[in-house]
Amino acid sequence: MRVPSSLMPLMDQGVIEEVIRPVQSGKEAEVFLVISRGERCIAKVYKDTQSRSFKHRSQYTEGRQTRNTRDQRAMSRRTRYGRGEEEQAWRSKEVDVLERLQNTDVPVPRLYDFIDGVLVMEMIVDENGEPAPRLADVNLHPDEARELFFMLLHGVKCMLCVGVVHGDLSDFNVLLTARGPVIIDFPQAVDPAHNRNARQLLIRDVRNLTSFLARFVPNLRRTKYGEEMWELYERGELTPDTRLTGKVKRKSGAVDLDSLMAEIASANEEDKKRREALGLPPRRPARAPRIREEEPEAEPESEGGKSKRRGRRRSGGGQQRSQQGGQQRSQQRGPQKAAGGQQGGAQSSGEGAAAKKRRRRRRRRPSSKPRGGGE
Ligand SMILES: Nc1ncnc2c1ncn2[C@@H]1O[C@H](COP(=O)(O)OP(=O)(O)OP(=O)(O)O)[C@@H](O)[C@H]1O
Ligand SMILES: [Mg+2]
Repeated sequence: MRVPSSLMPLMDQGVIEEVIRPVQSGKEAEVFLVISRGERCIAKVYKDTQSRSFKHRSQYTEGRQTRNTRDQRAMSRRTRYGRGEEEQAWRSKEVDVLERLQNTDVPVPRLYDFIDGVLVMEMIVDENGEPAPRLADVNLHPDEARELFFMLLHGVKCMLCVGVVHGDLSDFNVLLTARGPVIIDFPQAVDPAHNRNARQLLIRDVRNLTSFLARFVPNLRRTKYGEEMWELYERGELTPDTRLTGKVKRKSGAVDLDSLMAEIASANEEDKKRREALGLPPRRPARAPRIREEEPEAEPESEGGKSKRRGRRRSGGGQQRSQQGGQQRSQQRGPQKAAGGQQGGAQSSGEGAAAKKRRRRRRRRPSSKPRGGGE
C-alpha cells in the first residue's frame, strides 16, 4: 500500500520496513499493520487535535506533570506553543504508561519505539496470527466470561497499585488472545495521586467491564469491585495480592450529590460512545417530567382498589362534563335562567349523574301511571 505521510519519517529512518495495511481508524488514532525489524507490528499514529474528540479533556489532563512551569503556564493559557506542548504530552502519555506497565502483571502490548509521535508496539494476535478481536466483538461462555472478568480485574488492581487508572477501559479497549485479555489504548490514563477524577474514572472503568461481562454472567451485575478497590487504595491497603470481595460497606451520612451527578453524566457519555461505535442513532432525550395537578389523596391499596379508583376518576370526569354541559345548556336558555342554571350547575355538580337520573324518572312518573287509572 501507499505509505501514509505520517509513517514516512519512520521508513526513512529504517524503523519500519513495510506498511502492510491499515488495521483501524479510531476516534483518536489510525492504526497500521507494519513490518518493523523483521516482525509484524502495530504502528499507532495519533490524530491531530482538530480531528480528535477532545471532549472532557480536562478530566484526564488534570494533574499531569510538565517539564517546567513555563510549559504549564502556556498550556493553561492555551497559546499556540501551549497547544503544541499539550499535544505532545497527550501523545507521549500512552508511551509513558505502557513503559510503566511493561514489567508488571498488567497484560499490555510490548513497547518497541516511539518516534515522531508514532507508537510502534507488539501486535496482539488471535490463534491464527491475525490482529486479535476486541472483547466487544466476541460471544462468550459464562465460565470463560467469569475467568476473563477476574483476569481483567486483577489487571486493573495492579495498574492502580502502580499509579495508573486507564480512564477509557471498556470492551472496546480489550483485545482477546488465546492466553487471555490484553488491555490497550492509554492516552487518557490518569495518575490517581494527582487527578481528582481518578476515583470516578476507575469506578467507570470497572463498571464498563462488569456490565459487558454480566451479559454472560448476570450475577456480576451487583458487584462493586471498583468502589471497593478505590477504598482500599485510599487507605493504603491495596496490593496486587489483595483479595477483593465485590462488596463495600455502606457509609451512613450525606449523599455526595456532585459525584453522583458526575457518575450519571459519565454513564450517559459511555452509552453515547457505545451507540456511536455500534452505528446506532442517539437515544431520544427523556421526556420532561409531567407535573400532575394536585389530586385527592389516594386510598391505601386494597383488593379491587384499582378498579374503584378508575371508577371514581371516570365519574369525576363525568361530573366535569355534566358541569360544562349544564353551563352550555343554561347559556342557551337565556340570561335569567342561566343564572339559575349556574346555581343549578353547582347543585348538579354536587348531585352527580345519579341525582339527574332520579329527577328525570320523577318527571316521567305521572305519564307512567296506568291510563285511566284512578279508582
Ligand atoms: N497492539 C495491537 N495489536 C493488535 N491490534 C491493535 C493493537 N493496538 C490497536 N489495535 C487495533 O486498533 C484499534 C484501535 O486502537 P486504539 O483503541 O488504540 O485506538 P483509538 O483511536 O483509541 O481507537 P478507538 O477510538 O476505536 O478506541 C483497536 O480496537 C484494535 O482493533
Ligand atoms: Mg480504543
